[in-house]
Amino acid sequence: MRTVNNCPIGIFDSGVGGLTVFQEIHKLLPQESILYFADNARLPYGNRSSTEILQFVREILTWMSHSKVKIAIMACNTSSALALEAVRKEFSFPILGVVLPGARAAAKYGRSVGVISTLATAKSDSYRQAIQEINPDIKVWQIGCPELVPLIERDKIHDFHTQKTLKKYINPLLEKNIDTLIYGCTHYKHLEEIIKNIIPYKIELIDPAYYVAQSVKKELEIMSLRGNNSYFSVRFVVTGSPKNFSHLSKKWLGYYPLVDFISLSRNLQELIISNKMDQKN
Ligand code: DGL
Repeated sequence: MRTVNNCPIGIFDSGVGGLTVFQEIHKLLPQESILYFADNARLPYGNRSSTEILQFVREILTWMSHSKVKIAIMACNTSSALALEAVRKEFSFPILGVVLPGARAAAKYGRSVGVISTLATAKSDSYRQAIQEINPDIKVWQIGCPELVPLIERDKIHDFHTQKTLKKYINPLLEKNIDTLIYGCTHYKHLEEIIKNIIPYKIELIDPAYYVAQSVKKELEIMSLRGNNSYFSVRFVVTGSPKNFSHLSKKWLGYYPLVDFISLSRNLQELIISNKMDQKN
């Protein structure tokens, strides 16, 4: 018998990058409600240490667990590369990342694959490892692009400086004759127009967001967790400025979303206190 579960899908990122994942999931699974969490007070994640990333991810997932998500999606390559394996066993709901679906797709198309990502993701070597585990003959070139997320989050996508910066990062990959380029950071899909002007037409662009949505669908089916909401319900929460997030999101969502501010430290403190009271009673 097919069971129905209308609890939300939790999606998180440091900022507006995860909206690219949000959109793919919503397109594929319109009957699911979604809880989108952006940790915009602490971005960019890509310049953080793995200890910090792990701590942030644990805090977000703990909050999501109390918000009753049925599955959590790390719509963030940095978190997927540095924290997914560690936290997967710590929570009762399934947690999916973006690296593996992206790597699988690239291994299907490419023989010489370029990856643009945050510094932390590039340093983790996750994409190379995941791709070469599938096919050790595929060449993988990873490049950390620390300036891109701040430019996107500051709404500087169409500045000449952004185009120049992108060229600086992508040119060394073009010199390696890549046939495939992965958006190894969920923010970068927002730069697609400019990227397409820089790279030759024949290079295959891989957006892991598309493939992670397929994985979410499969996982919900296997776990009998599919929802059947008759209307679309979404809640956006941020740890920084709701106004900034709403303003930036309009470009991709087509509307100004209502955004709630949450204080993770206060929320987690309250959760600890209420857990202690539950234990006493
Ligand atoms: N969008 C995220 C990623 O895919 C995080 C970027 C950042 O905050 O540096 O890596």
